[in-house]
Amino acid sequence: MIEDLNVARDAALADVAAAASLDDVAALDARLLGKKGELAAFKRQLGSLASVDERKAAGAAVNEALAAVSVALDERRAELAAAARSAAVESERLDLTEFTARPARGHAHVVTQAWERLEDVFIGLGYQVAEGPEVETDWFNFEALNMADGHPARGEFDTLFVDHVAPGGTPGHTLLRTHTSPVQIRAMQAMEPPIYIVAPGRVFRRDTPDATHMPVFHQIEGLVVDRGITMAHLAGTIEAFTKAFFGGNVESRLRPSYFPFTEPSAEFDIRRPNGDWLELGGCGMVHPAVLRAGGIDPEEYTGFAFGFGIDRMAVMRHQIADIRDMYTNDLRFVEQF
Ligand code: DAH
Repeated sequence: MIEDLNVARDAALADVAAAASLDDVAALDARLLGKKGELAAFKRQLGSLASVDERKAAGAAVNEALAAVSVALDERRAELAAAARSAAVESERLDLTEFTARPARGHAHVVTQAWERLEDVFIGLGYQVAEGPEVETDWFNFEALNMADGHPARGEFDTLFVDHVAPGGTPGHTLLRTHTSPVQIRAMQAMEPPIYIVAPGRVFRRDTPDATHMPVFHQIEGLVVDRGITMAHLAGTIEAFTKAFFGGNVESRLRPSYFPFTEPSAEFDIRRPNGDWLELGGCGMVHPAVLRAGGIDPEEYTGFAFGFGIDRMAVMRHQIADIRDMYTNDLRFVEQF
């Protein structure tokens, strides 16, 4: 019997070694080791052996054969599983060498381009760039600009108020600046004349977005305070700026207007080569009350100021139909400029 057992064991081990898949191993496991398996059959024969010693020896041999086959099955199973894993890893491997090309180079957004060009033009005219906070008090945004509490001009700004009480202040006086004009006051307080500054920045109004409005947009403010500054300096500066920004064939003009912070006030338009006049922004001679709010003696100094929308400048330069397109981050749009 032991000889038969050894033959069966060796055949079983050969089958296990030849198993080509995990399914084969599972089938062999059942066939060889199962209750009704080939090797178990030897166990049933043990009872027919004559002596106790013979039964002991044969029983031990059957157990050894079962153990050997069981170990062989485990080993083959582990080998096949490892091979299956590395095959899966290999097949899912990403060939990153495909992307050896350099990433496409980005560029500044069309509004940033206009912002930077405007700064460049004014730096070229001898101006400095100034900044102020986006969250302001109503004093800087309105009062100091000659719009006292209850001034009707305040109503023209759809102001967004901030739920914050400034140190030493009272509720309802903190807001998102509605224009860059408060930077005029901050610049006058921080500097001694002569002052020649531009202040580009984000401004906020409670507006519903449409083709020509966004609740968040950009303005650039200009302020000049010096001895003997007149409206002629303002007109000349607007003209010089227009030519530098739009090119030599674009003209500018001033039209009488009203702003609380300037007196006299004007709106300035540019004429494009096709003859259309387009309104660009507001300007004027700084109101004496505004100079005083900035700590400057209006008897000694005069000044002019202007302010206009940067987004509008970009729209005009590139003939963009809808201002909202500039803020959708659609690459098909953004990459055109
Ligand atoms: N702050 C004005 C606005 O947002 C624009 C403006 C008009 C600015 C006249 C000025 C100015 O500095 O002199 O509508």
